[in-house]
Amino acid sequence: MKKLTQVDFKERRDRLAEEMGPHSIAIIATSPVAIRNRDADYKFRADSSFFYLTGFAEPEAVAVIETYESLDEGYTYSLFCRERNREMEIWNGYRAGIDGAIDDYEADEAYAIDLLDEEIIEKLLNKQKLFYRIGHSSEFDVRVSKWIQQADAQQRRGNESPAQVIQLDRILDEIRLFKTPQEIELMQIASNISAKAHTRAMQAVHVGMMEYALEAELNYVFGQQGCVPAYNSIVGGGANACILHYVENNQELKDGDLVLIDAACEYELYASDITRTFPVNGKFSPEQKALYEIVLNAQLAAIDAVKIGNSYKEPHHVAVRILVEGLLSLGIMQGDIEQIIKTEAYHQFYMHGTGHWLGMDVHDVGAYKQAGEWRPYEEGMVVTIEPGLYIAPDDETVDAKWRGIGIRIEDDVVATANGPLVLTKGVVKSIADIEALMA
Ligand code: GLY
Ligand code: MN
Ligand code: MN
Repeated sequence: MKKLTQVDFKERRDRLAEEMGPHSIAIIATSPVAIRNRDADYKFRADSSFFYLTGFAEPEAVAVIETYESLDEGYTYSLFCRERNREMEIWNGYRAGIDGAIDDYEADEAYAIDLLDEEIIEKLLNKQKLFYRIGHSSEFDVRVSKWIQQADAQQRRGNESPAQVIQLDRILDEIRLFKTPQEIELMQIASNISAKAHTRAMQAVHVGMMEYALEAELNYVFGQQGCVPAYNSIVGGGANACILHYVENNQELKDGDLVLIDAACEYELYASDITRTFPVNGKFSPEQKALYEIVLNAQLAAIDAVKIGNSYKEPHHVAVRILVEGLLSLGIMQGDIEQIIKTEAYHQFYMHGTGHWLGMDVHDVGAYKQAGEWRPYEEGMVVTIEPGLYIAPDDETVDAKWRGIGIRIEDDVVATANGPLVLTKGVVKSIADIEALMA
């Protein structure tokens, strides 16, 4: 299956150097290793922006990009990484090392990570701007502050040191927001695998099954493709679906209940994000059907609103109107539709947004507003569309028959010149198709 190559990563570094301009330095660290307990770490996952620029997936690595007097002189890409070490590699696995950083990852210069504090000062000298991702790790922030002081202290020897520290995320996030055709291909692969996992879950579910056992069906499909979940899977039966970030997944699935699954994998560090809601016993009840149809209509209309030039918020406005109309038609809400929308009284049943950017991070980077306005959709932006309705089990303002029903339907959509492109079409969502698949 498709993977990015060093050609792609180099293009990204070229682009960053261009955005930085002359006399600049950028410092980008990967994620720290996170301890799970005692000697056991969480499985390492590279920082998205670091990987975006380097393709380097090992822990303990820092990339440095330096530009000079004119961009015509090119730039230097240095990679600080772990040195090769026979004993450590026997215990913990292969390392690219200094030679690998140059030969396989196309660094112009490579250094042992242990030399970072020493080597970086020389690199900071005579640069005017430092681009740094401020605020991701207080420990690394402190180190960078010390380096700035040490570089400043060299001024009396006739050196200059950076006069500006610039939030690198603002630049990188804007670049990452627009996906190339290669990135869309990777997201399509992630979406296809996730769609398969949801399809398997619909076919495997049965009354009395535990939520975690259903989660295992999803993980089986992810694992078979060498993928991991892009976020903690939500498998909520019955009223658990009304808990938006329910991840305990430890209850029994009951006859007559719906189950909401919000789960998807990442492929080559590109995420997908899918939610489906379906009946544990394979047949929607009349109440479940009525609410589901409303959410589905809202979702389909919201997807249609992912049009180039439309405001980022348009799908939300479209979805909210259809949801409120539906709640009024069922008598779950009463009153004037305009008033309900204006006062956001619908938050009682729909309390989250209709989507978010999607990319290497499931809640991907990128500004949602520009100059105080919701930005318009442009080619290559990827967004989730995920309206829902949640009737709390203890909500005495509504007829008892509706209580404890939670429904969300979520797909991943690319804004293209030819209209919205749905990446997650591979798993059914109409009532008829779900019931047919589960029969
Ligand atoms: N799965 C996280 C979300 O839907 O935002
Ligand atoms: Mn989402
Ligand atoms: Mn989701």
